[in-house]
This record gives sequence, structure tokens and C-alpha cells, in this order.
Amino acid sequence: MLNKRRKVLLVGDGAVGSSFAFSLLQNCGIDELVVVDVKKEHAEGDVLDLEDVTPMMMPASLRTGDYSDAADADIVVITAGVPRKPGETRLDLVNKNTKILESIVTPIVNSGFDGCFVVSANPVDILTSLTQHISGFPKNRVIGTGTSLDSARLQVGLAKALDVSTSDVDAYILGEHGDSSFAAYNEATVGGKPLLNLPNVDRDQLAAIEDDVKKKGGQIIRQKGATFYGVAVSLMKICRSILLDENLVMPISAPLSGQYGLKDVYLGTPAVINAGGIRQVIEVPLSDEELAKMKNSAKKMNEILLAAE
Ligand code: 2OP
Repeated sequence: MLNKRRKVLLVGDGAVGSSFAFSLLQNCGIDELVVVDVKKEHAEGDVLDLEDVTPMMMPASLRTGDYSDAADADIVVITAGVPRKPGETRLDLVNKNTKILESIVTPIVNSGFDGCFVVSANPVDILTSLTQHISGFPKNRVIGTGTSLDSARLQVGLAKALDVSTSDVDAYILGEHGDSSFAAYNEATVGGKPLLNLPNVDRDQLAAIEDDVKKKGGQIIRQKGATFYGVAVSLMKICRSILLDENLVMPISAPLSGQYGLKDVYLGTPAVINAGGIRQVIEVPLSDEELAKMKNSAKKMNEILLAAE
């Protein structure tokens, strides 16, 4: 619709939420951003700080609000939740963050919200799945950041090792955004050529890069307390593809419905995102070993979901 106002409701104005808002204001041409956070004073201050970006970038109106502001929003972004502490796994957070999630999603649905939920709170695959269950929304309108951040980290690692630009590396981490994720090296390309056929890569080096990717979030948390820029930009890109109907392909937490022989689970896999949410989930051709890893991620997610519900 030509004159439709583009409105985003952000729930959770911590480091991830605030970095996302900063990126959103510079890249998406939105009309309105409403920020909801239990720390009202902080959120109001952040809105004052963020609104100073708009005259220099793109006009938008900003304010704090509450869940009823979701009624006419295009997207609700959920970053709220207890973040990982040093040494904690993403799955340790499941019980704490499930309760928080229920208290957010129910009033948002009751507001009449009819757009897309985009979730980055951890454990993201579980919380995306629970957002869909609690909201009863069609699965294609509930999206998690999934392995977009891990895939970006893989691109960084490969680009450094091969001394090429990150934009020449096309490689995905698939499965859980967490310990059971894996690099789909079979399908990875560098400058359009299959990674595994390049003369200057060996399997040990690739295994080490994959391992570093898995440990990178934990490393950043140990060194600076939290990770936020990467996931914030992942959120922004998902939102931009919805708001501008871009049909962008991104590795996200998507609902599987037969891909990889799996269904009824959200896991990291590429998908096409447009104004309606997830237009299509893409199945990456995997080796037998990679497929077993995907199934292992799904098994782990299903066990946790059963325990959480
Ligand atoms: C990350 O991987 C903490 O899940 C977050 O950066």
C-alpha cells in the first residue's frame, strides 16, 4: 500500500534493542518506532538520544509506549529477556525467558496486532517457537534471528583465513543458534567457487574456523559483557526485508515443514523474507554427516520445547 505508515514496536531496550533501533533508523525509512521496556526512565532517555539521529538520516517519530501500541504496527521485535552471563549456555536461559515471553506476547496479541513477530532473545529457536505457540500466529509471520549471526561470523572467519572480502564468501551455519550448530561447508562458495575445491583450504583449518565461530559469542561476552552489534544488524535486515518487501534470503530461525525430513520445529536455515514474513524456507543440500547434525539440533530443540511447555 503506497501511503501505509511503517511502524515498528521494539520490546526490550537493552544493548541489542538499542543497537537495533540505531541501525533501523539509518537503514529502513520507517515512520514510527515505539520502544517498550520495563526500565521506563532508561527507555525514555534512549528515545531522546536516538531521535537525534533522525534529522541527519531519515525522518521518523520515536516514543516510548506499551504493548497496546502494537495494534497498528507492522513488526514487533522482541529482544527482551535475561541475557547470557559468562559461562551460561543459551539453553540455561529457557525457563527464565519463557515466562518473560508469555507476559509480552499475550497482551500484544490482545492489542489486535496483525503483523510479524521478529525474535532475537535467547535461546532464539526455542523462544521463536514459543512465540508462535503463544500467539497462535501463522508460522510464516514469526521469525527468529537464528543462525544469521553465526553465518556472519563464519563469513568473517573464512574471509580472514583466505584473505578475501567477506562479501565474496557465501557460507551458512545451520541448525540451532547454539552449541549444536554446524557449518554447511558442502554448499559454501568463495567468489562463486565451491569452498571445498579451493587449493588453499584444508579440513583441519575449516574445522578450527567452525569451532571459533561457535565460541565467538562466549568470547565476546567474557571480554565485554555482551554481544549486540551483529544481532542488531541481523534484526534490522529482517525488518527491512519485511517493510520494503525485499525478498531477501537470510539464514534465520524458520519453521521447518518437511525440509531436511523435519517438521514442527524452528531451526536455522536460509529463507526468503518479504512483506508477508517468511515467503519460502530453503533447504540447503547437505552431506549425510551434515544432515545428521541438523537432525541432532532438531532433536535437542524438541526435547527442550517438550520440557518448557
Ligand atoms: C551471540 O551468539 C549471545 O547469542 C548471542 O552473540
